[in-house]
Amino acid sequence: MDSFQDVTDVLDYPMFVVTTATDGRAAGCLVGFATQISIDPPRFLVGLSEKNHTHRVALEARRLVVHILDADSLALARLFGEATGDDVDKFESCSWSPGPDGVPVLEEAPAWFSGAVRHHNVAGDHTRRF
Ligand SMILES: Cc1cc2nc3c(=O)[nH]c(=O)nc-3n(C[C@H](O)[C@H](O)[C@H](O)COP(=O)(O)O)c2cc1C
Repeated sequence: MDSFQDVTDVLDYPMFVVTTATDGRAAGCLVGFATQISIDPPRFLVGLSEKNHTHRVALEARRLVVHILDADSLALARLFGEATGDDVDKFESCSWSPGPDGVPVLEEAPAWFSGAVRHHNVAGDHTRRF
């Protein structure tokens, strides 16, 4: 029988860039572990790795912005998925503007929405925010 990892390796998840901000600190990373979990009320779940700079900022933040990527979003995906806010300011390398609660909205993303963080839930090595 295939291992869990063998099976999940072939899944083709949609990709998002999730940004957040608090106390003048902004953060964001590429996220595949994310999905809508309710229609009414609208709820969206984001899985952030405990290793990420974004996770640490999001622990204190009230709001996330979820950017939907498409096939033309490779540069954004690489910037937010390969670099870490521990070492670089990703927001110096892209166009953005302050959105709700000052959370950065990336101008090159084809679509985005913003949501208040209602729950934090630890699951394995990721914390779910929805
Ligand atoms: C294809 C792909 C999918 C990823 N999915 C997630 C994810 O669901 N959750 C997450 O926290 N990190 C995910 N990452 C990793 C982060 O985007 C990456 O480690 C990023 O550099 C972290 O940045 P930060 O330290 O500034 O938060 C993914 C990376 C790639 C390449």
